[in-house]
Amino acid sequence: MPTTDELRPENLYDHLERVLIDSDTLRNRIADMGAQITTDFAGRPLTVVTILQGGAVFMADLVREIHLPMKLESISVASYHGGTESSGTVTFHQSRMPDIDDRHVLILDDILDSGRTLDAILNRFRTECQPLSLNTCVLLSKQVERAVPIEADYSGFAIENEFVVGYGLDYDGEYRNLPVIGVLKPAWVREE
Ligand code: IMP
Ligand code: MG
Repeated sequence: MPTTDELRPENLYDHLERVLIDSDTLRNRIADMGAQITTDFAGRPLTVVTILQGGAVFMADLVREIHLPMKLESISVASYHGGTESSGTVTFHQSRMPDIDDRHVLILDDILDSGRTLDAILNRFRTECQPLSLNTCVLLSKQVERAVPIEADYSGFAIENEFVVGYGLDYDGEYRNLPVIGVLKPAWVREE
């Protein structure tokens, strides 16, 4: 276990035990997802709502593969509090919901795990807003038993139940800028 930050390699790739999904694979799959969404939402007033911070990198690449007029909104929530296990509670960082009335809404997140995050947002949108429709899209879907029974309408990759970082996903706020999805070396994960 390193004791000081100076011991950490500058290059983020040196923090990884392995790369799970490389940049080309991400790009190709996201292009396919964008094409499907373009077909499905053609002629409908679309608003993409990104869940921050994790969904930001995925959003930036996906929306450029959706060749339709659209509006972008975001919502900021947290379900992890620095570790590698979900806390079980979803904290909204704002009280106002985005303006999605009379819009077809596609909610984007980096990863579907317990399902609590998407479920909490869907419930608030259903009760506090008047969207024309609500759909969900995640880059990754963990193959685990969900705490809430929910699957995304669009899912990029199914992955095993392990903690991943990169491409928007963080460990303790870091690694979101890594261009690949990877698994951290145990040395860089603190004991809880
Ligand atoms: P859920 O609410 O348990 O479905 O978890 C969704 C949220 O947990 C995502 O938006 C991520 O922020 C976070 N999360 C779940 N699994 C991972 C992971 O493997 N790495 C980093 N963040 C994760
Ligand atoms: Mg997140």
